[in-house]
Amino acid sequence: MPDVDTTPSINLDAIDAEEAATDAAERLREALRYHNYRYYVLDAPVVSDAEYDRLFRQLQELETEFPEIETPDSPTHQVGSVVRDELGTVTHPAPMLSLKAVYEEEEVYNFDETCREELGRDTVTYTAEPKFDGLAVELTYEDGRLVQGATRGDGETGEEITANVKTIKGVPLRLREEERPVPDRLVVRGEAYMRKDEFNAFNRRREEAGKKVFANPRNAAAGSLRQLDSTITARRPLRIFFYEIAPVDGRPFATHAAVLKALPEWGLRVCEDHIRRCDGIEEALAHYKDVVDVRDDLPYEIDGLVVKVNDFAGHETLGVRDRDPRWAAAYKFPPRRATTSIEDLFVQVGRTGRITPVAVLAPVEVAGVEVTRASLHNQNEIDRKDIRIGDTALIERAGDVIPQVVKVIEDERDGTEAPYHIPDTCPVCGAEVVLSDDKKQAFCTGGMACEAQLRERLTHYASRTATDIEGLGDKRAEQLIDAGLIQDIADLYDIEKGDLLALERYADKSAQNLLDEIEASLKQDLDRFLYALGIPLVGSATARLLAQHFATLDALMTADEEPLTEIDDIGPEVAQSIATFFADEDNRVVIDEIRAAGLMLANPYAEDEAPLEGLTFVFTGRLDEWTRSEVQRFVEQHGANATSSVSGNTDYVVAGPGAGSKRDAAEELGVPVLDEDTFHKLLRERGLGE
Ligand code: IVH
Repeated sequence: MPDVDTTPSINLDAIDAEEAATDAAERLREALRYHNYRYYVLDAPVVSDAEYDRLFRQLQELETEFPEIETPDSPTHQVGSVVRDELGTVTHPAPMLSLKAVYEEEEVYNFDETCREELGRDTVTYTAEPKFDGLAVELTYEDGRLVQGATRGDGETGEEITANVKTIKGVPLRLREEERPVPDRLVVRGEAYMRKDEFNAFNRRREEAGKKVFANPRNAAAGSLRQLDSTITARRPLRIFFYEIAPVDGRPFATHAAVLKALPEWGLRVCEDHIRRCDGIEEALAHYKDVVDVRDDLPYEIDGLVVKVNDFAGHETLGVRDRDPRWAAAYKFPPRRATTSIEDLFVQVGRTGRITPVAVLAPVEVAGVEVTRASLHNQNEIDRKDIRIGDTALIERAGDVIPQVVKVIEDERDGTEAPYHIPDTCPVCGAEVVLSDDKKQAFCTGGMACEAQLRERLTHYASRTATDIEGLGDKRAEQLIDAGLIQDIADLYDIEKGDLLALERYADKSAQNLLDEIEASLKQDLDRFLYALGIPLVGSATARLLAQHFATLDALMTADEEPLTEIDDIGPEVAQSIATFFADEDNRVVIDEIRAAGLMLANPYAEDEAPLEGLTFVFTGRLDEWTRSEVQRFVEQHGANATSSVSGNTDYVVAGPGAGSKRDAAEELGVPVLDEDTFHKLLRERGLGE
């Protein structure tokens, strides 16, 4: 176990002097640093996100109340601050080299032969590690504190991006010293990147907001790190792998493998899972094959395997030619590009009415996967790349990133290719399509009357991370809409068994199952419900933030933009989107209808987690919306007691039809008796239920 107290329990109300604040802040910082290390370096967190957030907020509060206790390397300082006119330059203390790329096995054997001959060894020990496809960065630590960050630039000088790298959560502002002393100066290098899933989500948010989308995770990482405003960088999902200590002030280790072992001990993450120490080139080639096999399953993009001579004495002997060290080779993977023809172009209508053009491709295999569709993002891209139906195009597939059209091959044209323009009316509902002036955004104006939008909204509402209505996927949603049962989401709650039995593929049991699932979706956590509503730009993380700041749906619905923008991580666009959504009459009506159907929201993220604390309830008679044990569990979860007999300690008796002696006892003892509606009102007043 670590020496640090991983979940310090600090009562902020009891802290009123600087000394106590300094002490508490240091305990919180230690804990947060440890959790960062567990999460980012070891990939093995020991606390929940909610617990981490709680510690983080406590530290923020303390530092706000006692500004004099702040330290420059506090974990709260990773949110960005500096806005600049341009990035400065940095001269690298040792050149940042590049790598010679090789594409054939034979070239790898040649590389090995050179190494063996020049080093005079029969076999050479190598390390083989992924070649990450991101942006190279150099970080300088002095006395264990991060003092500078730089891009590679031309290898001699790069751009100074200190404020930006500091916002990357996996970059420690202070090195760990628990396992290994830290040198006076340490210059480390690594690759900043975006994970594929985080990149896709990030791009989707941009697309929804009408912003330029990035072609791939590498461009997104590079663009994010070169921002002049580091608060923008802070909101980008950047990560980092370290792979090198720059050879300045001598070499602290004899081998590369020793470096890779030391880096994580200082809190600098390396790609442990896929680094191999290889005795001889055959082992490196075998590792290459293994990595090629898992490449698509990795959460990040890699484009080859870097094979490096393990010992630094060998590096000295082999030296550098031009910019490429002769002790390393990058064995690149086969490209994931292919040419094929564009058979058709059509548009898809998304949940918010966004219209996205898609290319239908003649099926083509790209690195083992058949590709039949490519996303074209918008009309602007079609025009810019001059993409026409019938064109031959170069397609690129990058992991699970949606395949893209890199370019069309104009030489292959025979004059029959037809230009494409997004239709003026929605192909699904016939409503007008509006196209922005820059042609980057197109929307169907049909709203919920557009079946495509309705279907997307409905499946989103029912999805696992939203209200989790099992069995309501694409097909069934479409079937319900086609049958005229659903015109908006609230109609879900009016469906009756007979309606379902009249449809194909429903029997008594499956119909009942779906109805039960729909019913169960009414008891919901606020954040999931908010996410389920499909407010543009509000993903699950934002929904959770909202639930933290607004105890109830009502509080959020009546908030205007200003309190929303005060929430960290919610920018003006998102705030505007939320306010617009709740100002919309149609949306309010749908929410009201879901409430009328019996929506019951709990909010586990609300700052006040026990709003019923100190109260004792007795339930008697039948309640419409709860079973006895459900309601008892509910109040207990929120801090109250539920007992079975009425006494002087009872605060409320909640009585439904059929209540008998307990109601009489309450009246005798003067304990207030609530009917179900009044009980709900009480819950609402305490920020629970709707
Ligand atoms: S070692 C010679 N190791 O590749 C030393 N570089 O073409 C070069 N890269 O600018 C650095 N993964 O951005 C090294 N595991 C890895 C790497 C790696 C990606 C990049 C790095 C560098 C470029 C050189």
